[in-house]
Amino acid sequence: MNFSPLEKLPKNQAEITLDKLETVYDEWASSYDKDLHSIGYPGPANIIKRVKNLLPDRTAKILDLAAGTGIVGEVFKSEGYRNVDGSDMSNASLKIAKEKGVYERVFRCCMGEERIDSEDNVYDGITVVGCWSIPINVSIFTEMNRVLKPGGYFISCFRPDAWSDKDIYGYKGALNDATIWKALSEEMDEYHGKLETEHEHYSSDWFYVVYQKV
Ligand SMILES: C[S@@+](CC[C@H](N)C(=O)[O-])C[C@H]1O[C@@H](n2cnc3c(N)ncnc32)[C@H](O)[C@@H]1O
Repeated sequence: MNFSPLEKLPKNQAEITLDKLETVYDEWASSYDKDLHSIGYPGPANIIKRVKNLLPDRTAKILDLAAGTGIVGEVFKSEGYRNVDGSDMSNASLKIAKEKGVYERVFRCCMGEERIDSEDNVYDGITVVGCWSIPINVSIFTEMNRVLKPGGYFISCFRPDAWSDKDIYGYKGALNDATIWKALSEEMDEYHGKLETEHEHYSSDWFYVVYQKV
């Protein structure tokens, strides 16, 4: 497994546009689940493990952003969560997610470019699994904060190059705003199995982080 759909993207991360990425995920949608499961994909379960610790109430209202085809939604459902919405920019992926019936509401949103379709202070938690490896406008962090309830959690994971001291995409800096976020934890954990790729950025262990809306 070499993640060939992603290999179509420019090697230089800065040249990857959201349009190109959306096309790749639209084209990949029908075989995405099979490909991910074939290499082992513990990322979703490792996120839900953290959600269970922070939000044990299975009626907690959660938004799964960059939900893709709904693999994370499937884990939420198997753990008994029944109030989870899912959103992504890839319509082909969202169609599959919707068919799985794992999300309460499914809606399209291009993070960092568009408003999240929600009132303020609605969600107890937001999960984002596997999306920060390319630059996304950091306005998304303010937008996520807006739709979280005070005390609500942002639970996500970042590939090591996107969560380094160099802060290449500005994600750490954007979350390091004590007026709206409190950092709760940062741990390395497994994200996906071994990839046969020469892509120097891929790594099987990612940073799992939790922030709380103040
Ligand atoms: C690696 S997949 C992860 C999907 C799902 N969370 C999972 O774990 O299977 C990355 C997803 O992020 C979505 N994505 C990337 N950038 C996005 C953006 N700016 N707005 C919305 N979705 C985005 C892609 O369309 C894709 O479905």
